[in-house]
Amino acid sequence: MCGIIGISSNKSVSANIINSLKKLEYRGYDSAGVATLFDGEINEVKSEGRVDNLEQNFDLKSLKGNIGIGHVRWATHGIPNSINAHPHSSDNVSVVHNGIIENSTILKKHLINKGHTFKSQTDTEVIVHLITENLKTMELEEAITKTLKQLHGSFALGIIFKDIPDLIVGARRGSPLAVGYGPNENYLGSDSYALKSMTNKITYLDDGEFCIVKKDQVHFYNQEGKKINKKILELSSNESNYDKGDFKHFMAKEIEEQPLTVKTGIKEYLDNVNNEINIFNFPWKINEIKSVTLIGCGTAYHSCLMAKYWFEELTSLDVNIDIASEFRYRKNRFKKDSLYIFVSQSGETADTYAALDLCNKNNMKTCAVVNVIESSIARDSNFVLPIHCGPEIGVASTKAFLGQILVLYILALKIGSLSGQIDKKNYQVKIKDLKNLPSLIEKTLLIDNDIQAISSTFNEAKGSMFLGRGFSFPIALEGALKLKELSYVHAEGYPAGEMKHGPLALIEEGMPVVVLAPRDSYYKKTISNMQEVIARGAKVLLITNKSKDEIFSENIWETIEVENTNDDLLPFLLTIPLQKLAYYSALKMGYDIDKPRNLAKSVTVE
Ligand code: F6R
Repeated sequence: MCGIIGISSNKSVSANIINSLKKLEYRGYDSAGVATLFDGEINEVKSEGRVDNLEQNFDLKSLKGNIGIGHVRWATHGIPNSINAHPHSSDNVSVVHNGIIENSTILKKHLINKGHTFKSQTDTEVIVHLITENLKTMELEEAITKTLKQLHGSFALGIIFKDIPDLIVGARRGSPLAVGYGPNENYLGSDSYALKSMTNKITYLDDGEFCIVKKDQVHFYNQEGKKINKKILELSSNESNYDKGDFKHFMAKEIEEQPLTVKTGIKEYLDNVNNEINIFNFPWKINEIKSVTLIGCGTAYHSCLMAKYWFEELTSLDVNIDIASEFRYRKNRFKKDSLYIFVSQSGETADTYAALDLCNKNNMKTCAVVNVIESSIARDSNFVLPIHCGPEIGVASTKAFLGQILVLYILALKIGSLSGQIDKKNYQVKIKDLKNLPSLIEKTLLIDNDIQAISSTFNEAKGSMFLGRGFSFPIALEGALKLKELSYVHAEGYPAGEMKHGPLALIEEGMPVVVLAPRDSYYKKTISNMQEVIARGAKVLLITNKSKDEIFSENIWETIEVENTNDDLLPFLLTIPLQKLAYYSALKMGYDIDKPRNLAKSVTVE
């Protein structure tokens, strides 16, 4: 996590650095800071909390300089306060860093022995002193090459120098970093989103590379310090996607955008004329693939779990799913005939990237399901299936979840049809239903009032449970995750059938329990489980789909009905009330919905 910006220009840079930091806040918001070079001095300002705090605490307009770096932090080493905030500086060098330096303790000892003094508790400060030390005897390129070799761990760096006042050094290992090109100025940024208001011309650094950014030229180097050439990419720009519009929060906007998300996804992958799914340039023959392994973190992992149910239902493939942070350190039995699918909104999640890297090193078939198509995970996978959601700014993932499960469903359907598991007629029916999905999501979004009214019950309770079976189980997990990350209340997702194997002990009088019981093949079983929790005093919010049939159960606290569709697609609709429940609970508590505590959008550290 953490966001980095650097600008080298022929005019003052502080205002643009602040604007870019505001865009980067989704990566971290514990503290913020800026350093500029002016009149032979490094001027540094930093504050605990948001960029707004920094603006309130300092007169940033008077922060002069045509060259500068900025940072928003998500704390790893050292508490979030202004001392640990970046930039970190010596007399000559100032550094912003995203990542973790794993050998910082050893390096610090060595540097202290050489007479360096440290001000903060961060791992980053060792970088400052290492460069300062190496520059005593080396030219810039050599000093940077040596410093990077001395560092273990992951980093994206922006560095300025009092004695070399016309340039910024950027370096990357593990954590993402991009260079942008503007008129009479050039930029460094953690991602293209931070740079988009200034340029759409971007170069991404690859692992081990560093760059020297001047206002009128940029040079790239490999890890041996040799100059290399790199391509400039031109990004499409749609600034309106980065705006809240009339919505109070990005999350609210992104929830409401979901009919469009799904419509766009369907348009990208469906041939309307032939009623066929198009997955162009798929690099393998279907019969070369005997199993799929889906890997992700958090919400993206829930998408993988959702896909497991669909792949098992629609194809004959063996399906495995894994949490990336577990997969990357396990003794995996890699299988040549397996397709490894990496699911990630940002495409930069460190654990997911490490899992991909491991698969690539073992020559596996790799496929990325990502939102950010310029991301590391997309660039380093054999094949990419974009989810076409547009930028998701709210830290809690909403539309990207629907985008991910849509693409995974489409892939399962296509493989099922190609391998003959789904007959032609059934395939056509499923495609027709899929085309209706956006309008059903739109109608389901109208449940606002019902959800608003009951949301406070979840805040007032000690905890809550989210139960589902089959296709609804991954959605129960996702609903619980949304509530805990936004409302800071305990919420647990569970397979409804597992309750009597332990968790029923938690149920007490008045405990809110969400039961997802659409009228699919699991319906009757789930209703029985629901009755078991009602009998023990739970306040049940039943979420089902519309039907003429009555629900035979007494004492249900509240019922919400989503629209009706085939069993495969019901998970899309069941997700909507759960997103809204989390949103309204957090709204009632007055929490920062787009930036929940302790979280960040792009988790680029382990
Ligand atoms: C939850 C959430 C996180 C992310 C997870 C993976 O709302 O947003 O759990 O899903 O950090 O992030 P990506 O998808 O960017 O790899």
